[in-house]
Amino acid sequence: MTDRHDLPAGFSWGVSTAAYQIEGAVDEDGRGRSIWDTFCERPGAVKNGDSGRTACDHYHRWPEDIALMRELGLDTYRFSLAWTRVQPTGRGPANPAGLDFYERLVDGLLEAGITPLPTLFHWDLPQALEDEGGWLHRDTAHRFAEYAALAADRLGDRVPAWITLNEPFVHLVYGYALGIHAPGRTLMLDALPAAHHQLLAHGLAAAELRARGLDVLIANNLTPVRPASDAPEDRAAAEAYDALHNRLFTDPLLLGRYPDLSAYGVGPDLHGAVLDGDLDLISAPGLSGLGVNYYNPTRIAAPTDPGLPFAEAPIDGVPHTHFGWPVVPEGLHELLLTLRDRYGAALPPITVTENGCSTDDTLDDTSRTDYLAGHLDALARATADGIDVRGYCTWSLLDNFEWAEGYSQRFGLVHVDFTTQRRTPKASFAWYRDLIAAQRAKSAGR
Ligand code: FCB
Repeated sequence: MTDRHDLPAGFSWGVSTAAYQIEGAVDEDGRGRSIWDTFCERPGAVKNGDSGRTACDHYHRWPEDIALMRELGLDTYRFSLAWTRVQPTGRGPANPAGLDFYERLVDGLLEAGITPLPTLFHWDLPQALEDEGGWLHRDTAHRFAEYAALAADRLGDRVPAWITLNEPFVHLVYGYALGIHAPGRTLMLDALPAAHHQLLAHGLAAAELRARGLDVLIANNLTPVRPASDAPEDRAAAEAYDALHNRLFTDPLLLGRYPDLSAYGVGPDLHGAVLDGDLDLISAPGLSGLGVNYYNPTRIAAPTDPGLPFAEAPIDGVPHTHFGWPVVPEGLHELLLTLRDRYGAALPPITVTENGCSTDDTLDDTSRTDYLAGHLDALARATADGIDVRGYCTWSLLDNFEWAEGYSQRFGLVHVDFTTQRRTPKASFAWYRDLIAAQRAKSAGR
């Protein structure tokens, strides 16, 4: 890859993980219960009855995991803080033992020459806040800002940049509309206030972080939306889907307004959730970067179900991952160009905060190296087209707890035996390590 198109000098190479997917140790050092602890106990909610109770035991094995990252030669490690380690019930004073853990991790990373890039919320809401309404409840946004301030007060002297939220779209749709993820609510369009309250939480937390001189990013799951045909009904459906998946979370941030959701019969106040001043806060200037999580494009046709203005159509003629997701590297290039065309000067620098694929249980994961090579090439072409991309974090360092799929989807550069916790680097690990070294040598020579 990237012989023809190299990434720019100073480009930052990383991996991503999330707290509930790797940490385990759910009852240790005062950690409170999160919605994922509860959801995993619901019969049938997670494949094979799996849970993150032990996961990769990263809470105890983090030194070994940092050693793996050092071997990769990473610049950046994107991970998330478990809110319930910092505030067990989502409010009130910090639990010092919880912050101690993240302090040890951050210090270990810095010692290894790796910049920590924490995400404050990767879907593990304190159960106590969910009991009060979760993201449907406006006060949760204020609680989040309080938590952000506590985390930044302890770690801000060593952690320069923070991601507020991970994929509010997926949390909204899977968690609140369809019930596939925690908290398992099936509200369909009535879930929309949970979109606004997440964005409000971002805005309030961003103000706290900026007041402490810190950089602020947000990571969205974005997908280029392709109409299934040129027929006007398919094109209209694709536009409606694009509004929900992409624009709902980037228009307010970058343009200060919600997209047109009239195809859903929803007005610009999202069922009354949007109050005066909220959009100013959400779009406050100074977003340091947009985190883009890209996995695949989406093909959309006219609706078949009267409840929604679109239907998802399969993408044929391309390889599919173990998860069944279509592999379309060009989609990343297309997505970044669309962002530039759509937002122009309002688009902040981009970091690809997630990109990767699940494979079956093999160490010889050539389909992963093919996936990564293809996407990095697409990314390099986007930078050659003038798009300001600062870094790339692949999902993920380790095989881990893949939400509703439990341990059945393996996304790691490193294989984890979940019985022994033994870590074994896969072929893609060596490939990524060598790629980073080669790119670094090239940019040093430029
Ligand atoms: C993303 C999530 C991440 C992981 C990958 C496969 O949507 O942010 O936690 O599950 O998908």
